[in-house]
Amino acid sequence: MDGLDELKLRIMDQVAQADDEAALEAVRVSSLGKKGEVSLKVRALGGMSAEERQQAGPALNALKDEVATAIAARRADLAAAALEARLASEWVDVSQPARVRRRGSIHPVSQVTEEVIAIFADLGYSVAEGPQVETDFYNFDALNIPAEHPTRTEMDTFYLHRAEGDNRPPHVLRTHTSPVQIRHMEAHGAPCQIIAPGRVYRADYDQTHTPMFHQVEGLAIGKDISMANLKWTLEEFCRAFFEVDEIELRFRASHFPFTEPSAEVDIRCSWAGGQLKIGEGDDWMEILGSGMVHPKVLQASGVDPDLWQGFAFGIGIDRLAMLKYGIPDLRAFFDSDLRWLRHYGFRALDVPATGA
Ligand code: PHE
Repeated sequence: MDGLDELKLRIMDQVAQADDEAALEAVRVSSLGKKGEVSLKVRALGGMSAEERQQAGPALNALKDEVATAIAARRADLAAAALEARLASEWVDVSQPARVRRRGSIHPVSQVTEEVIAIFADLGYSVAEGPQVETDFYNFDALNIPAEHPTRTEMDTFYLHRAEGDNRPPHVLRTHTSPVQIRHMEAHGAPCQIIAPGRVYRADYDQTHTPMFHQVEGLAIGKDISMANLKWTLEEFCRAFFEVDEIELRFRASHFPFTEPSAEVDIRCSWAGGQLKIGEGDDWMEILGSGMVHPKVLQASGVDPDLWQGFAFGIGIDRLAMLKYGIPDLRAFFDSDLRWLRHYGFRALDVPATGA
């Protein structure tokens, strides 16, 4: 058949020139497509004599195959080149140094928690933990807060929803860290010396209250632990925490169902010039609740109140952070505002200051 060689050269040239998928597809349509040059020649075989057909048929078939093979090869080349280009454009230098200005920071609550743990560790306390979703038994009953006690409503408790017919005990978001006292004594008995830092929840929201906040519980049980030991321990803690030698604490008689006697503790401070100073001045700031563990609480935890006694306290961690680092609004603690975190946050390797 005439002109086949010339046709082949032309198509092969077009294949080689096609530099993207669309151009290559156009070459395929104009050669092998229904009305393509090669297809038209194949169709023309029908009008030929048997002899002519015998000669032209195999030659055309060979041409068809060669063109199809060349197009497939070109397509593979183009795909490989496209991948190559994409990989080159998306290349990342993993050995580049991190951008220092964008580093994260330690939240003041985490920092203060670490400081508190470090100070009490020096005093021989270990850390205990309990669940944040607590049964009303641990959060109230075992702490000598019976169902009808006003504290249950005073604490603005979050109750977990219970489906009808669900007869598991009622659960609450713990309103304080005191249930950890019960859990710890139940599991380990007496004597003991623990602190239990963690999240607590109450339905309350203003400049000094958020629905979730942090407390650290303290518990020391022994044969002859007294209120005097409590006073010494809290003074020692405040001296170390606020890094001030001359601190003064004021114990105010108070009431908690789980301690008897009970005391709320204020620290002497001054707000002169809008600047908070601990240990001087004429103001008092409440920082914690405390007292001698009530015999009923020991009993509920399986500890014999005729043999053992001790003190407990609950400190507001967020309060401590506001006081020590001069942060005026508690709500900002939990807004996740990056500018706030950069301003008040701590560097990862800052060693907690214990004042020791
Ligand atoms: N649980 C009390 C509160 O949340 C604080 C406290 C703890 C008081 C231990 C006395 C003893 O207010």
